[in-house]
Amino acid sequence: MSPLQPILTGVSVRLDKFLAEATGLSRSIAKKAMHAGEVTCDGVMVKDPAFKVTADTRVCLDGEQVALVGVRYLMLNKPVDTICSTVDEHYPSVISALDIPRPDKLHIAGRLDVDTTGLVLITDDGQWSHKVTSPKKECGKRYLVQLADPLDASLIETFAAGIELRNEDGPTKPALLELIDRHQARLTITEGKYHQVKRMFAAVGNKVVKLHREAIGTIELDPNLAPGEWRYLTAVEIASVG
Ligand code: URA
Repeated sequence: MSPLQPILTGVSVRLDKFLAEATGLSRSIAKKAMHAGEVTCDGVMVKDPAFKVTADTRVCLDGEQVALVGVRYLMLNKPVDTICSTVDEHYPSVISALDIPRPDKLHIAGRLDVDTTGLVLITDDGQWSHKVTSPKKECGKRYLVQLADPLDASLIETFAAGIELRNEDGPTKPALLELIDRHQARLTITEGKYHQVKRMFAAVGNKVVKLHREAIGTIELDPNLAPGEWRYLTAVEIASVG
């Protein structure tokens, strides 16, 4: 489905339901707004909550058009010192910073730590995000990693074989390590255990000093996105997850 496809094509719904869904207001507040004369349909004031609207009806609340949001898929370049959950007293959330309708319906497919930067996928499609995050789907997440201590080439085999992390049931799944220089590497993992990359390097006596996610599956972070910027995924990017 296109991210911008309207939900209502060919069907009609009650105006109070439409308003609640489009704005995030409760049904009772939506009804109050109608009774107060704040709602128009195609320019005509409507007070009846059962009035039927379709995708073609122009619904306005307080003179501003409101519309249903379809299923959305976005990529964002996460800056440092932002968080992927919605509540934290110290850092801003990447989702609440999005200037789009109903950010409350969105969630992140695979969170990053506060000090990790790079590719974050955001959607309101739970089945799609499950395919991104479920280890069974083996969707690779590629990280650029900077390390405090020099890297040894023997680590390539160690990470490919899987390593034991404390408080985890089994070893990590095979991971692909590509050395760039003595202190930098690319690591591709297909799981998303808590602080997994940092813990994998800590388990072999090293320390991650910088972590940046470059890709998820075949979806690469768009180099045109500055930290904090986002764009909708293309149909090809959406379909690549599966
Ligand atoms: N692994 C980590 O340790 N941190 C992240 O943010 C992502 C993967």
